[in-house]
Amino acid sequence: VGPTPRRSRRTIWNPWRGSLAARSFSPLEALAYEALVAPALAGVVVPWLTRSLEGRELLDVGCGGGRVARALATEGRHVVGVDAAASQVRRFNLRASATRSRALVADAHALPFPEGAFDAAYSSCALKHWREPVLALAEMARVTRAGGRICVIDLDGRSDARRFARFAARCPLPGPLRRAYVAYSMRTVVAIAPSAERLRELLGAAGLEEIEVTSLGEEPFVAATATVPARQSAPALAQPLRSVAGT
Ligand SMILES: C[S@@+](CC[C@H](N)C(=O)[O-])C[C@H]1O[C@@H](n2cnc3c(N)ncnc32)[C@H](O)[C@@H]1O
Repeated sequence: VGPTPRRSRRTIWNPWRGSLAARSFSPLEALAYEALVAPALAGVVVPWLTRSLEGRELLDVGCGGGRVARALATEGRHVVGVDAAASQVRRFNLRASATRSRALVADAHALPFPEGAFDAAYSSCALKHWREPVLALAEMARVTRAGGRICVIDLDGRSDARRFARFAARCPLPGPLRRAYVAYSMRTVVAIAPSAERLRELLGAAGLEEIEVTSLGEEPFVAATATVPARQSAPALAQPLRSVAGT
């Protein structure tokens, strides 16, 4: 699907550039993320994915350190993770060492798997970082069997600070630091996160069907499931996607 993308940038967020979009986590970010955010995030994401996913062979795109995958794999599922950050892939593989689940360094825009290799594919809180989310979603669809599920969950770009603070309250941060974290996140990750409408639009543009988008109650997250349609020829699918990708 589409041309092979350039490698994702690997930099700590630069306030002068003003953007967190389209890049993988640096080792330092990954360390902070794993200690402070990932456990609380898994508490939201894992129950939803457990209800929403079907099948045994799963792909986790933007898998991070593998906390989510490890929780899902204990239910008798095999998870393959991909992440652009090598430090997170190493962390994933340490965590998953007792299971058959494994991760590799790869870009969401060019997944190194054949068509229909997985029963289902999911992504947790990575889509907002993708340079061309339609292409990445189309890649998830390509490597998932026809009729398989695609599940995507991310921060809700329409969340206000009060709603985000409900999530931040579960992160192990002292009061003043937590307030700073909320303010920082509102300006950075929430600002680039999709709304429910945008997520539906992206999944539709990627050629997915039976799209259902929900907000997770009072949580500052939006979650979507969709179904991979019966196969079309690859060139027929790729052509319209290229024109939507830049929107
Ligand atoms: C907020 S973390 C989410 C990690 C994990 N899914 C979780 O729920 O804890 C986003 C992850 O997406 C990865 N990422 C960003 N852009 C990517 C890309 N183009 N391809 C693969 N991974 C990417 C980052 O390196 C990072 O590990």
